[in-house]
Amino acid sequence: MTFVKPTSDTSVLNDQVFVLAQKAKEDPDPNKIDATLGSLLDEKGELLTYQSVFKIYDSLDDKIKASYAKGAAGNQDFLKAVDQHVLEDRIKLYRRLVATSGGTGAISLTFKNMLETDEAVLLPHIAWGSYQTIAKDYGLKTVLYDAFSIDDLILKAKELSQDQDRLLMVINSPAHNPTGMSFKDEEWQKLISALKEIDKPNVILNDIAYLDYCYDLDKGRSYLRCFNDIGAKTMVVITFSLSKTFTFYGLRTGADIIIAQDAKAVDETANVFERSCRALWSNVNNAAMACFVKVMQERRRDYIAEKDQAIRMLEKRSQYFLKELSAAKIPFYPYEDGFFVTLSFEDNKKRDEVHARLLNDHIYALKVNKGIRIAICSVPFDKLPRLADSVKNAY
Ligand SMILES: Cc1ncc(COP(=O)(O)O)c(C=O)c1O
Repeated sequence: MTFVKPTSDTSVLNDQVFVLAQKAKEDPDPNKIDATLGSLLDEKGELLTYQSVFKIYDSLDDKIKASYAKGAAGNQDFLKAVDQHVLEDRIKLYRRLVATSGGTGAISLTFKNMLETDEAVLLPHIAWGSYQTIAKDYGLKTVLYDAFSIDDLILKAKELSQDQDRLLMVINSPAHNPTGMSFKDEEWQKLISALKEIDKPNVILNDIAYLDYCYDLDKGRSYLRCFNDIGAKTMVVITFSLSKTFTFYGLRTGADIIIAQDAKAVDETANVFERSCRALWSNVNNAAMACFVKVMQERRRDYIAEKDQAIRMLEKRSQYFLKELSAAKIPFYPYEDGFFVTLSFEDNKKRDEVHARLLNDHIYALKVNKGIRIAICSVPFDKLPRLADSVKNAY
């Protein structure tokens, strides 16, 4: 007997990150290294949390923590603070923001509302696995583009526009998960100008989950100015998450920033998103929103300084690890910024062999399409020499 609707996917959700992380936890070997989870750990191997953030969080009145948000789209002061934090006055176009349940909620709302069932969303060929999960949940097909090639994205967008009435393309840059790739400003410009040739509504979903960890924060945001030049048929939805930005992984708060030339189209989209919020989670974490506003008003400098230390820690790890890989001539995908370095393979057979050898050596890392993702964010610096040696031996 089946009670769920016949089109449901009834298979068990097999999230390899959590499966592997659990295996790593249960491994009694003292030399094990868990490079699976995309959370930033400090040099003691403990979850890094910002004091400047959590002191404010702890000081919030119980009534603020217990309260509903002021509306389904979130609190206005929070949305203003997000706009200022993310865009820093770089965008001149009209925009609306909607608070969401983390970055996942922001992406989910966009997938849900931009395409009809059976239409296809354009995804990078190597990507965060949840895009596929979300697409499937809304009955969407997927078309993959070469994650490193704006030209291929343009080509695939033009091809797809022959078959459907609207387009949705996901770009996870800067600091792409899993490779660490960031598109250059010229590449963004090229895309935005090419999209003007597509005579159908097209939406760029720009996933910025790791934006706040670019090694050069100003350079990392400079591409945002390109959005001022989008054509009349293009809309940008920037999906923001407090999970990494504030180390608020479990507090489930983020936002969609909806930008277009036509203010009416932006308002309409915000209305649709707000309705979905009400239907899906009603409203988001009030304490997280209040905390974000207060930190930005009262402790922004301390927070930025604290986060900068974390960025430098990550930079030191990535520089060391990439140098080791380069010296050993082990191929990896283009890396600019971010939490992960991904070893590259021409085929998944060789990848599986290397992955099995790493597991045998008590090294836990995630398999991705033609790659093995090493979460340097969760490996303290003093464990990196052993990690690098193990990768060299396994290769
Ligand atoms: C590429 C990417 N986008 C979005 C997210 C959103 O995360 P959350 O829903 O925890 O905010 C993540 C988290 O791992 C991610 O890796």
